[in-house]
Amino acid sequence: MKLIFLGPPGAGKGTQAEKICKEYKIVQLSTGDILRANRKHGTELGQKAQKYMDAGELVPDQVIIDMIKEELKKPDVAHGYILDGFPRTVPQAEALSALLENMEQKLDAVLVLEVPEEDLVKRLTARRTCRTCGKSYNLIYNPPKQEGICDLDSGELYQRDDDKEEPIRNRLKVYENQTKPLIEFYSARKLTVSIHGTGKIKEIHEKIELHLDKFK
Ligand code: AP5
Ligand code: MG
Repeated sequence: MKLIFLGPPGAGKGTQAEKICKEYKIVQLSTGDILRANRKHGTELGQKAQKYMDAGELVPDQVIIDMIKEELKKPDVAHGYILDGFPRTVPQAEALSALLENMEQKLDAVLVLEVPEEDLVKRLTARRTCRTCGKSYNLIYNPPKQEGICDLDSGELYQRDDDKEEPIRNRLKVYENQTKPLIEFYSARKLTVSIHGTGKIKEIHEKIELHLDKFK
C-alpha cells in the first residue's frame, strides 16, 4: 500500500499515519519528522532546514526531493508506506511521479484530511511532542497520562518552535498557496479520497480504514 496523507498543518496527518502504519505494517515517511531528527543530531541537512522550519516556510524543493529519494531506496519501505507531509509543492509532486515511474511503483491513493482553520490553530497551539520518539499529544484533545511525559518512552514533551501563533499563521498561508493546489493535481489523476478530519481521533481512523481495506 502506497499512500500520501495531504492536509494543512494540524489536520492530523501524523496522528492518523502512525496508527495506519502500525495496523497495516507499513512505514511512515514524515518529511517533518525526518528534518526534526536531522536537526536534533546537528547534521548539515538539519542546519540547512532550521531557519525555514522555525519561520513556518518550506525547505527548498531540491533538498526535500533528494531526502525522499534516499528514503524510498531503503529496504523497509518495500511493503508500503505513507508519505506524511510530502509532496507539498507541484515541483515535489512532479519529482515524486518521475521517481515512482523509475521504480515501477504506483500510488494507491492520496487521502486529503479536511479540517476548518479555527480548529487547526486550536490543535497546534496545544500540541506537545516527545523529544525522544516524536509522538504528538494534545493538551486539550489527546493529553498524555502524566503531564509533560511521553506515554511510550517517558521522554520529555516540548512545544515545537513552529507551533507558536506567528509561524502557525505562516504555515497555514504556505499551505493555501503552495500545497493546496496538489488536491487538484491528484484529483486529475483520480487518486484523491476526502476525509472529514474533525471529530474523535478514533472515529477518523475508522473512516480511513474503510477506504483502505480495498488496497490491502
Ligand atoms: P511537518 O512536521 O510536516 O508539519 P505540518 O505539515 O505543518 O503538519 P503538522 O505535523 O503540524 O500536523 P499534522 O497534520 O501531522 O497533525 P498532528 O497529527 O500532529 O512540517 C514542519 C516543517 O518542516 C514545515 O513547515 C517545513 O518547514 C518543513 N517541511 C516538512 N515537509 C516538507 C516538504 N515536503 N517540503 C518543504 N518543507 C517541508 O496533529 C496536530 C495536533 O492535533 C496534535 O496535538 C494532535 O494530538 C491533535 N489532533 C490530531 N487529530 C485530532 C482530532 N481528530 N481532534 C483533536 N485533536 C487532534
Ligand atoms: Mg505531522
